Parts: sequence; C-alpha cells; structure tokens
Amino acid sequence: LAKACNSILNHIIRTKMNILVIGSGGREHALGWKIKQSKKTGKLFFAPGNAGTEELGVNLSVGVSDFENIKKAVLENKVELVLVGPEIPLAEGIGDFFAEDSELQHVKMVGPKKDGALLEGSKDFAKDFMLRYNIPTAKHLTVNKNNIGEGIEFLKSMKSPYVLKADGLAAGKGVLILDLLEEAESMLKEMLEGKFGEASSKVVIEEFLSGVEVSVFVITDGKDYKVLPEAKDYKRIGEGDTGLNTGGMGAISPVPFADNEFMQKVEKRIIEPTVNGLQLEKIDYRGFIFFGLIEVDGDPFVIEYNVRMGDPETEAVMLRVKSDFVELLEGAADGTLGEKEIEIDEQVAATVMLVSGGYPGSYEKGKEISGLELVANSIVFHAGTKPEGDKVLTNGGRVLAVSSMGSNRIEALENSYRNAKVIQFDKKYYRKDLGFDL
Ligand code: AMP
Ligand code: GLY
Repeated sequence: LAKACNSILNHIIRTKMNILVIGSGGREHALGWKIKQSKKTGKLFFAPGNAGTEELGVNLSVGVSDFENIKKAVLENKVELVLVGPEIPLAEGIGDFFAEDSELQHVKMVGPKKDGALLEGSKDFAKDFMLRYNIPTAKHLTVNKNNIGEGIEFLKSMKSPYVLKADGLAAGKGVLILDLLEEAESMLKEMLEGKFGEASSKVVIEEFLSGVEVSVFVITDGKDYKVLPEAKDYKRIGEGDTGLNTGGMGAISPVPFADNEFMQKVEKRIIEPTVNGLQLEKIDYRGFIFFGLIEVDGDPFVIEYNVRMGDPETEAVMLRVKSDFVELLEGAADGTLGEKEIEIDEQVAATVMLVSGGYPGSYEKGKEISGLELVANSIVFHAGTKPEGDKVLTNGGRVLAVSSMGSNRIEALENSYRNAKVIQFDKKYYRKDLGFDL
C-alpha cells in the first residue's frame, strides 16, 4: 500500500509545476490569482511582482527585461512554465531567448517570439498583415521621412478627425487623434522627426472609425485557439469618458453589444484569419492575442493587436474563467490547446480602478492604504503598491483594481463600488460611472 501511495504521490508531485509570471501590475496579480487556483500549480513566482503578488507566491527582484537573471531564477527555482505579462520583454525577444538557450529547452513559454510580437510592436507590420489576410481594419498609409509628401496628400484625401500612430511601442501614448488638417500635417512632421523617438520614425495614418470598442482575447498555440471572455475598458480619467487617457480606469465583462452574432463575425473575419495568417507566415505563436476592436454598424474592425492580455481587462476577465487556467497555458505552450476545454462563467465581472489623485498627471506615492481587511465580496488586485513592514503603500498612478462578480452588471458594480469606498488612501480617486453606458 505504501508503495502505491508513494507512486500516486509522486505522480501528483510530478504533475505540479513551478510557474513564473513576469510583470508587476494588476494584470499579473490577476493572472497569478487564477494560476494559484489550479491543481497543477506548484510554487508560484513573480518577477518582480508587487505587494499583492507577494501574498500568492514569491516575488523575485528581477526586472522584466533582465533575461540573464530571469534564466538564473528559472533554473534555481526549477520553474517549468513562464507566463509573460507585458509587451516589452516580448518585443525584446524573451521568447527567442528561451527557445534558443540549451538550458531552458524544458521550460514552457507562454508568449510569442519577436516575429509574433511585431503584431503589437509595429503598427505598420500589423496593418500589412491585416491587408494580406483581408482582416477588416481602417484604411491606412505608412509614412517615413522619404514619403512625407504622399502622407500629406493622404491626409488631404481624408475627413477630420485624423488618426496618426507611431509605428513602434510608445507606452500607449503613440496614437494621436486630431481635428484640424493643419494640426495633423505638423504633427506628422514632428512625429517623423522623433516626437516618440525611434517608435515614430514610421507613422501610420489611418482613417477614423466611429463606434464602440471592445477588447477580445484569445489564447493560442499557433494552430488552435480559445476565446476568453471579452471586456470593455474605460480609458479616460474623467466621468463620461472625458479628460486624459490613462492605463485604464476599470473594466466590465461581458460586453452586451458583443453578442453571439457579433462574436461569430469576430471569429470568422478576424480571429481565424489572424491565427491562420500567423501559421502561413511560419510565425510560431504561443500566447495571448488581444484584439482591440471597434464596432461600426454591427461589423467588427481591428483597431490594434496586442500580444498580451489587457490591463485592467484581465482583472475582470480572470474572474469569469472557470476552467483550469494552467491547463490552457500548458496547452498553448505545448501545442495541445486543441485538446483543452474552456469554461466561462455566465456572471458579470466588474473592475473599478483606484488611482492616486493627480494621475495621469503628477501624483504622490507612498500613501498608506487602509481598509483592505474590510473588503467583502470583491477581490482586490494590486497594480501600484509596495509593502513596508506591515503596511501597504501606494506606489504608482493606478493603485488597486477592485474586482467583483454579480449575477448582473448592477450587482457586480455595486460590489466593487462598496469596496472602493471601504479602501482608503490620501487623494484616492475612481470613476463612479462605469457601466452606465452599457
Ligand atoms: P491604439 O493604441 O491603437 O489602441 O489606439 C488608442 C485609441 O485610439 C484606441 O483605443 C481608440 O480609442 C483610438 N483609435 C485608434 N485608432 C482609431 C481609428 N482608426 N479610429 C478611431 N479611433 C481610433
Ligand atoms: N487596456 C488596454 C491595454 O492593456 O492595452
């Protein structure tokens, strides 16, 4: 009997994996929270993590772009699966680094290599890719220093407002929407002269599309894919979608207009041709694809691709994933996603982001956070916090993501808003109008 028990135990031990999540935001806390629930999860690590992830696992003080030290940590801690949260290390080639290093061959990597990461890292690449596969998106022209004249002509042929996008990664700030043609012309020149550094050495000029936006996520092994719950992201700082853009003030999932009929169109016209296109171009893509979509007269168009999950959408979406998330991650990394099932909770998830007063402009850090122990019926994901002794201090613009479920949108929002009030820190701010538009 002892022998039998041992062999069963061994089997269980062997099927548990140590997992490393790369990143330090609310997204990574939410991913870690979901991973922690899996029967397959052994030890959980974050690089570098935050005060919230510290409660789920071990924070390693290694930066997201420090591949050599990530490798060291992976080997030391016998990590078998790595999930990359943010886009920067993906664009910098963390996927290639793992694929090419002889000591890391056994590690399952969830995140595309450089070639796949171009879907986010180069808007010009993404637009050409969509054209090649007939994926609906706004008309565009890519301009560099040598064809400014063509760019100006293209702008003149379009109607206001004018959309200018830096080709490369610009921390979410590289998209400008301008009302006046003269403004657009001079901004085009400024961008090409280095307004966003190397990122705007090419500029994509795009037709403006008017409609409502929705974030759609899939996990893929490059052949098969599973659609995760869609979400709406509230980007502006002010109520009624006014004021400056932020990293995201909240999220709600599901999104009512993204009904079955709409999602069928999204799969047929956008998701399938994207995954097939990657395969045709021999891009071995294992990870998440985030489709930033806009609905125009009932039809979906791609505004942008991201090669990672969204933040703060993940903080809502993870609450609705019922299946074992590690099974899905493993499936994506191993190329066995086709054998996996995804089960989604029908309920509504709502995330309210608590931010530092002044954000997205200048704000103070280091404010003590209180009331976390009073939270009930919500999960609080940490975005910008730092532990200090027994205390938790604010350490960023976006501080905490308060996420809740409800049988309907009102109930989910009520849960999050009740707890948004209970949690206190000096100059706390949050939007009180989330979900009113849906
Ligand atoms: P992106 O960084 O590409 O997601 O762009 C940032 C935001 O700009 C999007 O979430 C949209 O709200 C807006 N946007 C980008 N492209 C367009 C477009 N072609 N038409 C209308 N709005 C756009
Ligand atoms: N919520 C939008 C993003 O993560 O890019």
